[in-house]
Amino acid sequence: MHDGFASAEDRAAFIVALPKAELHLHIEGSLEPELMFELAQRNGVAIPFTNIDEVRAAYAFSNLQDFLDIYYQGMGVLHTEQDFYDLTAAYLARARADAVRHVEIFFDPQGHTERGIAFETVITGITRALDDANAHFGMTSKLILCFLRHLSEAEAEATLDEALPYLDRIDGVGLDSSENGHPPAKFERVFARARALGLKIVAHAGEEGPPAYVYEALDLLKVDRIDHDNRSLEDPALVARLAAAGMTLTVCPLSNLKLCVVADMAAHPLKIMLDAGLVATVNSDDPSYFGGYVNANYLAVADALDLSRADLVTLARNSFTGSFLEDTVKAKHLAAIDAYGRT
Ligand code: HPA
Ligand code: ZN
Repeated sequence: MHDGFASAEDRAAFIVALPKAELHLHIEGSLEPELMFELAQRNGVAIPFTNIDEVRAAYAFSNLQDFLDIYYQGMGVLHTEQDFYDLTAAYLARARADAVRHVEIFFDPQGHTERGIAFETVITGITRALDDANAHFGMTSKLILCFLRHLSEAEAEATLDEALPYLDRIDGVGLDSSENGHPPAKFERVFARARALGLKIVAHAGEEGPPAYVYEALDLLKVDRIDHDNRSLEDPALVARLAAAGMTLTVCPLSNLKLCVVADMAAHPLKIMLDAGLVATVNSDDPSYFGGYVNANYLAVADALDLSRADLVTLARNSFTGSFLEDTVKAKHLAAIDAYGRT
């Protein structure tokens, strides 16, 4: 075994209580089948499943679009503010059990407003749960509004307009959904407006899309972080640029496996990223659909790539340095990780 661990069990125990932040989590992707059934019943919504085993069996994806089709269908059970509260509260409790101290949550308002659910209903339910988690167990959070890239830039602009009354509760904007054919360039103007409003900027890039999309995210959207980024490894000049810039990457191992971005976990590029000096982090993306919350992601990739104690400490440190927390707060979390790493 690597430095400091007598066994894989030792490493697992280290991971379980390692203080960490989660920076890539779609709240709608944390909808567990049990809650999906409960909300379907509560709201009188028909779903094409008769039991939980059928739901789980449907979660076999061969690419991103396969998953997205089921993901948008699943979120159709979310109707009321209480539904969004329950969804968010369930995720936060689960994250807390994984020693997550801080979360930066994506939400997809267009997945709801398209169905006639008011923006206010969505954001009020989510933020009430975020506030309660902060009050009850000290969990801190940031909220990132994602634009659906398969829709038009005009629709993204209209969504940003709807968000204006809530900007005190929104920390950033992101870009998600079907990547290929929907490059970051398509959204250059709406991201410029978001930046001018003081919002942080992130974008999914290089999950299925080519390195050119990562360049566009950097040069046109002027991102503060990149979500996924696997395919940047095809371009050494891009890797060098990302490393030199200290750009944080939110990597999602179980997502990559389930969406066939990697053939198996042993082929996951996380260790190559770290060794190249990239600021990689580990995240769960859509945990209910991809088979595990953040610790399951750390465990799967640590076992497959034989990650060392130093690697794990680096990943946890990166999750805070790459967060949108204030520097003084980051410093406290980093000190806690360093103290934990010495135990
Ligand atoms: N990629 C793109 N869009 C998404 C994802 C993802 O992994 N999860 C939810 N929306
Ligand atoms: Zn994602």
